[in-house]
Formats: sequence, structure tokens, C-alpha cells
Amino acid sequence: MLHLKTADLKKQSIDALAIPVCEDEDIHADPLIQALVQKVLTLKEFGGKKDEKITLYDLPDIKARRVTFYGLGKIEKLDREKLREMAGKAVKSGIKKELANLWIAVPAAEKLGLEIPAAIEALMEGACLGNYIFQKYKGEEKKKTLTQINLLVNARVAKTQRNLCSRVAAVCEGTALAREWVNIPSNDKTPEKFARIITVLAKKQQLKVQVLNAAQMKQRKFGALLAVAAGSPNKPCLVVLEHRAPGAKKTVALVGKGVTFDSGGLNIKTGGSIADMKSDMSGAAAVAAALMTAARLKTKLNIIGAIPLVENMPSGTATRPGDIIHSYAGKTIEIGNTDAEGRLILIDAISYVLKRYQPQMLIDLATLTGSCVVALGEKIAGVFSNDEDLAAAITAAGEKTHERCWRMPLPEDYKNMLKSDFADINNVSESRWGGAITAALFLADFVGDTPWAHIDIAGPAYLKKGNAYCPAGGTGFGVRLLMELLDRI
Ligand code: BES
Ligand code: MN
Ligand code: ZN
Repeated sequence: MLHLKTADLKKQSIDALAIPVCEDEDIHADPLIQALVQKVLTLKEFGGKKDEKITLYDLPDIKARRVTFYGLGKIEKLDREKLREMAGKAVKSGIKKELANLWIAVPAAEKLGLEIPAAIEALMEGACLGNYIFQKYKGEEKKKTLTQINLLVNARVAKTQRNLCSRVAAVCEGTALAREWVNIPSNDKTPEKFARIITVLAKKQQLKVQVLNAAQMKQRKFGALLAVAAGSPNKPCLVVLEHRAPGAKKTVALVGKGVTFDSGGLNIKTGGSIADMKSDMSGAAAVAAALMTAARLKTKLNIIGAIPLVENMPSGTATRPGDIIHSYAGKTIEIGNTDAEGRLILIDAISYVLKRYQPQMLIDLATLTGSCVVALGEKIAGVFSNDEDLAAAITAAGEKTHERCWRMPLPEDYKNMLKSDFADINNVSESRWGGAITAALFLADFVGDTPWAHIDIAGPAYLKKGNAYCPAGGTGFGVRLLMELLDRI
């Protein structure tokens, strides 16, 4: 689907060619493209400013039916993300026009002040990610995504960067997989259904799969996870995926919150806050997709993916506020609020993984708190970690992939807000402030000394309104981030 290609524009038949243009600098090296840009810039209606675009048809000298110029703004402000956005927009407009093929003219990286792979990678990512539509439930209105996207480069670049295509495509397909799962409604991804979906794909990728069902978890005393599941007729399960790399010395564990619907339980969510809670398994989706991608790319690490799946519902069998439960690790927990369910399923999954696999490092992803969205907004994830290097690696990886992560504190003295009069710990803080921090401190109580990071993705996991390379719904946040991170540790 994605190709790096050279072509003679005078001879090559092309449905649509997209050309990025800076307002203050010539960024292309091909004389023919430079001439086209020169020409379009003489028009009053296009100056290469950010978000400007213009389409010209049947230009002389070249065989492309249409050429669309995309303004990138000033070169000094140009970065990878602007390239992703440009490519995403070009693909989206190609889908709208029902094109068979789209070409994107790649600027000369040296003129952009970027490395060659960085610029190409960004364009590829924007193009691939922009080519995703959720239409599983559409009848006649189904659109066709593009079947061929070609990045127009010179022969040298086409040759040296050949391997980049398949890697970027795999990582973006992983992201699309995560988006698709998040977008599927809760009635079609009950814990057991979702476990099935993951299992089938994981086996295809040669991952080892273990699924613990409700009875097995009861026998093994997953008390916190089962307490969350108690209100739903849809039984919970724990999926564990294993990727093994021959000769690998390190084992990294990834844990993803998989609440297939979060009603809040008996502390039922009110107003609009219940609306998009099918997305409360976005951490699980990111972890499962990252494992599929790691298997595909033969990542040189042992990776364990633990995915606790439950539905949080109110009913006569639901766990009540005030109940005291026994976690897998043995600590007792007073349920201060049934809507603080994510941390309960996470700690049982985390304790199980630590005991059984003794990983050198553990990272969890979770749509854990509304407080984190209050603190950082909808586009930035919160990172909490007991390890400086791991925290730094995560924020650096997020800068590269534009899945922005901001480190948050784990202040020791805030822990006393989780105290309980009757049990070892309460699942919610007595204070209404600092909820993302106290949630992370609750998790910290169960990870011991293992280097650990918790990424609260409640904000960036889901979009109310689509953007340049992601439609409304699940974003797949975390998949590219994790793949980049795994390369750095
Ligand atoms: N799944 C929610 C967090 C959430 C909120 C995700 C908004 C995405 C968007 C989580 O289970 C939750 O309900 N958290 C509560 C915790 C509170 C009861 C301590 C919250 O943030 O309000
Ligand atoms: Mn909740
Ligand atoms: Zn939740």
C-alpha cells in the first residue's frame, strides 16, 4: 500500500500529486517540482501559509491529473508533526475523491533541517494513519480507502530508505488495530468477545497466548479484578500475550486497562460522563496492538502483555461502596468508590505479572482518571514513574511520535490520602484534588521496586472530533509510543 518511488512526472500517469510548500523557503530538490511551486506561488490565493491549499488540474508538462499544494507555513516552525498532518490531509482528500492512487512529493530533508528518515517516516505515518476509517457498522455508505500511496523520492533515497516502509506500515497498522477495537461498541467487545478477537490475531502472529477465565481467577484469588466484574453478567478474563526474542536478556511487561464499558458501577456516572466509556479499554488495545506489532517486527526483547478485561456495571450482584475486598497481592482494599475501578483491575494484573514473570521493567497504560485530563488537557498523557531513565525514555519517545507525555510527580506524603479506617488501603483519595496522582500512588503501592511507569491516557485515547490524521473515536494512542520506546530500552 505504501511505497517509496521515483518517477518521471512528464511520463507517469498519476491521479493526484500532493506537494508540500513552505511560505518562505524552497524545500524541494527536483527542478520540475520547484518550477511548479514557483508558478503556484505567483497566485494571490496561495502563499504556502499553514493550512492553505490549492488544487490545479491538467497542468502542462506533467501527466498528473491534479496537483494539490499544501501550505506548511514558515520553515523555521516546520517539524515532523506538520509533515504528518500534511500527508494525512492529502490522503483524506484522496479518499473523498475516490482516487485509486496518490503521490506525495517528498521535500529534500536537508533543506528541512531534518534527517532523511525522520521526514520520510513522518510523511509515511501521516499517510498511513490518515487512511483509516471506522466503517464496520456502515451499510451502503462504505468508503474506499486508498490502495496505493506513493512517496515520490529520488533514486538514492528510494534505495537507502527501502526498509522504512514496511516498519512504518506495520506500526501504523498496529495503531489502526487499536483504533478499531476502541471504536467497536461495548456490546460487541464484552470481555470474552474481546479476548477472543485478541487471541485469534495473536496466534496468527505466533505470540504465546494464555487466557485466564473467571473461574480460574477466582481460584487464584484475583479479588480486586473480580470485584469490578461482579456487577456484570459478562464474565471477565485476563489475557496474557508473550513475545520471545531469541537471546534477549530483558523482559519488559506491558499492562493495559481493559474496561470494556465503564458505567461507574453503583457509583454510576452522571450527565455526559458515561457517553464514551466504550473507550475505557484503550490501554488494553494499545498493549495488545503493540504486542502484535512487536511479533511482526521481531523486536529484540522479551515482552509480556497483560490485559485484564472487565465490564463495570451496577446491579444486585455489584460490589458496593464500603465493601472490603482481598487483592491478588493479599492487601485488603476498602471500596470508597466503584467508579475507581481501573486501578483495581490493574493491580491484580500487575501483581500476577510480577510474580509469574519477574520482568525487569513494567509499564502500564490506562484511561485512568478524569483528573489527568483536567491537568493536561485532551492531547497530553501523564507519566508517573519510580525510574528517572524510564520516565525520560517515555517522554523522549512521545516527542518523536507526537504522542505527548508529561511527567507528573509521585509525592510520598500524598499517600496518606488513600488511608482506610477499616482496610489496608482505600481505592479512592479522601481529597477531591490531585486525583491522577493519588490513582498513580495507589498503583505504586503494588509494584514494589521494579522499574515502573504508569501512563494515564484518559485524555488522548479518544477524539470527539477528528483531526488531520485521525477520525473521531479511538486514536490508537500508545502504539507508536510503545514501539518507539521498546527500541530505546
Ligand atoms: N474511566 C474513568 C476515567 C476517564 C474519565 C477516562 C474521562 C476517560 C475520560 C475512570 O474509571 C474513572 O471513572 N475515574 C474516576 C476516579 C474517581 C472516582 C476517583 C474519575 O476520574 O472521576
Ligand atoms: Mn470509572
Ligand atoms: Zn474507568
